[in-house]
Amino acid sequence: MEATQTSENARLRDMLAVSPYNQLALESLPHRDRIKIFDTTLRDGEQAPGIALSSDDKVRIAMALDDLGVDIMEAGFAVSSETERETLRKILDAGTDCTVCSLARSVKGDVDAVMQTGVDYVHTFIATSDLHMKYKLKMTPDQVVEKAVSTIEYAKEHGLRVMFSCEDATRTDLDFMKRICVAAQDAGAEAINLPDTVGVIIPQGMAYIVSEMHKVLKVPISMHCHDDMGLAVANTLAGVEAGAEICQVTMNGIGERTGNAALEEVAVNLFANYGAETVDLTKLGPTSKMVERITGFPIAYNKAIVGRNAFAHESGIHVHGVMANSLTYEPFKPEMVGVERHIVIGKHSGEHSVRGRLDALGVRFPEEHMSELMATIKEIAVGGKEIDDAELVAVITGKSVTSTATVTIAINGEKRVKSEIGVGPVDAALKAISEAVNDNITLEEYKLAAVTGGSDSICEATVMIKNVQNDGNLSVGKAVGLDVVQTSVDAMMAAINRDFARQRSE
Ligand code: KIV
Ligand code: ZN
Repeated sequence: MEATQTSENARLRDMLAVSPYNQLALESLPHRDRIKIFDTTLRDGEQAPGIALSSDDKVRIAMALDDLGVDIMEAGFAVSSETERETLRKILDAGTDCTVCSLARSVKGDVDAVMQTGVDYVHTFIATSDLHMKYKLKMTPDQVVEKAVSTIEYAKEHGLRVMFSCEDATRTDLDFMKRICVAAQDAGAEAINLPDTVGVIIPQGMAYIVSEMHKVLKVPISMHCHDDMGLAVANTLAGVEAGAEICQVTMNGIGERTGNAALEEVAVNLFANYGAETVDLTKLGPTSKMVERITGFPIAYNKAIVGRNAFAHESGIHVHGVMANSLTYEPFKPEMVGVERHIVIGKHSGEHSVRGRLDALGVRFPEEHMSELMATIKEIAVGGKEIDDAELVAVITGKSVTSTATVTIAINGEKRVKSEIGVGPVDAALKAISEAVNDNITLEEYKLAAVTGGSDSICEATVMIKNVQNDGNLSVGKAVGLDVVQTSVDAMMAAINRDFARQRSE
């Protein structure tokens, strides 16, 4: 490791305050310097219902993941379409430091499709549980072994590197799994992946499987855990503790159904609790935001590491503690993962937070009116509303305005003009747009955030609309820009266009 990287990691270590018991409980991790991040955001992540990325979207995400420092990137499933193959070629042409890989079933035609892209690393898989072999593949175990081995041999004969996966490994008979994985290794697979395809194992079970497979395999073992029962990250880490060296993950945990182990959670835990250095942690926040924006797949407010509330504090006791020393109520400083802390003014705020915000805004507020101000804030915030800086200023100046907005929209060539009033210009503009477009559209959620902080910051607006006519379909739109009203309008239009596109494709 380079000296600059080592000193950067030492700096990040100073930002941590995880439990000291972790080190006491953990056996040492002799392979911690060999742990690799295998990212599958562009393959398993894209398979999440609701996500459909264009070729350019994929190239942009691929570049960001490469910059983040993932070791291997599963950038697609070559056989699925010519566009997918073209995208894989574009990613290769753009040039990456990481290894680019494509998924392939244990079928020679799938390997041929990978070869057409120029990608030289293929991840072959076949289902190995009785359930899958009997009902899905309708193949005997011997046939499954033969397929797996002949496909790996075929890929090797054509000069490809191969990782092999037993799909549904965690419900596969252990002796059979040992048999097929040893055969895959002998055929030339350089790593064996053990997916918890349906997210059904617990950490102890995963540790058991990995230690058993370790007894018969010489090549590195990889983890690929789904989050159906909320254990994807815990299972991945348990596999690593038991000797696995590769973590298959996705940014923001996106993936089939409830998703995959989240890259940001696995990487931060590996660093904070296992001393294993993988990706550039300070780029996690920006990369996560970028993936959220491009996929349109919103990150839950309470999502670990990158959720809006991960470093947000509202209650008086917590804000007081954080202002004295942020580690009182945070496991590590937000800058370690490239995100920002937010002190939120809301129902649970105490005077400390309000004073802190007013100081940050440079507003001197008379002490004798503080209790009055607190009462007004509680009244406004009682329904769970957060008070942003502009609203706080409006409260203290007693300002109340009625705004109007007029919008002109072209829908399939037809021009519609609508005016509305609202409690502010954004409210008025969004109301006018939904009126102009369609009275079946309701605004479900609106969020505005400063991307960089400061009064001249770029802002990011997120709008979620519901089409009450079309089975209550939800569509999310995001936009970034300098002007709050224009950016909000752009986000609203992005959501409406997404809703239209969905209707057209149905
Ligand atoms: O979940 C799974 O089993 C997979 C395989 C294709 C590796 O995604
Ligand atoms: Zn998967």
